[in-house]
Amino acid sequence: DGFSAEKLFNQGYSYTYDDVIFLPGFIDFPTDAVNLSTKLSRNISLSIPCVASPMDTVTETSMAIGMAALGGIGIVHYNNTISQQASIVRAAKSHQIPFSSDLIFASPSDSIHSADEFGNSPCIFVTESGTKESKVLGVVCKSTWKGLSDKEARISDYMNASPVTLPSSYNFEDVAGYIASKKLDFVPLVNDKDGEVVNLVTATDLERMNSLPKLGLPSLGTDGKFLVGAAIGTRDSDKERLEHLVKAGINALVIDSSQGNSEYQINMIKYVKHTYPHLDVIGGNIVTKYQAENLIKQDVDGLRVGMGSGSICTTQEVCAVGRGQATAVYKVSSIAEQHGVPVIADGGISNSGHIVKALSLGASTVMMGSFLAGSNEAPGTYENKNGLRVKKYRGMGSLEAMTKGSDARYLGDTAKLKIAQGVVGSVADKGSVLKFVPYTMQAVKQGFQDLGASSLQSAHHLLRSGSLRLEVRTGAAQVEGGVHGLVGYEKKYF
Ligand code: XMP
Repeated sequence: DGFSAEKLFNQGYSYTYDDVIFLPGFIDFPTDAVNLSTKLSRNISLSIPCVASPMDTVTETSMAIGMAALGGIGIVHYNNTISQQASIVRAAKSHQIPFSSDLIFASPSDSIHSADEFGNSPCIFVTESGTKESKVLGVVCKSTWKGLSDKEARISDYMNASPVTLPSSYNFEDVAGYIASKKLDFVPLVNDKDGEVVNLVTATDLERMNSLPKLGLPSLGTDGKFLVGAAIGTRDSDKERLEHLVKAGINALVIDSSQGNSEYQINMIKYVKHTYPHLDVIGGNIVTKYQAENLIKQDVDGLRVGMGSGSICTTQEVCAVGRGQATAVYKVSSIAEQHGVPVIADGGISNSGHIVKALSLGASTVMMGSFLAGSNEAPGTYENKNGLRVKKYRGMGSLEAMTKGSDARYLGDTAKLKIAQGVVGSVADKGSVLKFVPYTMQAVKQGFQDLGASSLQSAHHLLRSGSLRLEVRTGAAQVEGGVHGLVGYEKKYF
């Protein structure tokens, strides 16, 4: 019944995830027996197959921390200066707590005029300079400040000069235990070396964390710190960037090109492999077997697949080049698997079904932009648009992002004219990745169970042996497969 992937994907059509549907297999294990652990690249293991895309509206410190805490990984974008990118990596790696809180600073001579100055934080930190970069002198608690009648008083007159703090090397369980045993409202975590505040954990955070679904182990390196990846381009100046990123402790490097089968990329892979032999290098983006073979010859440790499949992409429209993402993932992974190179299915993920499809068609992980961009952990603040809370999400090839500096990926070195290959938009508020990613993984496990695959390895075995059966959906079948025929409804998954 149905077709094998080999037969379906060799008929001259470019299919994307929505075009295809799997036929169910045989279930002989419970959903929770499904193991989603996987590899990002040859030497990097993850407990969930999720990667945050190197985009400036997706992956900075908070996202990198959140993804690593969940057992996935974030790839820090490079649409910034070298020192900004390296300090994002450093900040993410200096955390042991699955989230980072907003920290507010003031100097001893300041006054606090309104409760708004506290933001969502229960306190303001006082440092000599009034910025994060110096030893903390004390804290002003919102509750103390609210009780004051003289709101013009200088901070130094009413701050608590010896607040309880904990070392930033403490993990979440240690901090949680301490807060609970001492019945504290919050505790700042400070850097042992110079006394700078690194993070803040509140009693409300503990309640929130305890109510979240639990996943597998966090992604930690051999140094016990969160795994963090970073992206660079293929220009000579990217070599200097890389040197700083390696010093900051990156665990994986993504070489970022929209068409990765190029002399520029091959030269960069050679340079990285020679200069930093212990760093895993992920090449791409590619969509064909021919492109894959060229990069595999250079000994890449991972391949990133997708061209024009991203939600904000216009590459296929502008350049007439690309491939439907289901076909691209299947074709590239069929070569990559023979060489033990894990494939990242990049772009086009908008629901858990797309993740099941990407992984079952041969990918080891999915890289996501829009799926994560509406989360608390994505950079930027929420805005109100037509009554909806949204965050900005933009293509790295959009004019707006290129004006800020990401043109290397989308332009040749000598190009003078900027042609956009992406758009700027916004995505709805989704809350924290710490909450919606575990629910999404549970849905992915159910998909795997329906297929009769208890792990990614088992799904890949079903695929290659021809036991995974699938079909193309007609337009009407796709309509039928979605919600239809209702006057109005609310889509809510958990
Ligand atoms: P999703 O669908 O997850 O896609 O939002 C994210 C991926 O899209 C790619 N990307 C772009 N592609 N023009 C493009 O053609 C762009 O401006 C652009 N920005 C990002 C990238 O691979 C990302 O991971």
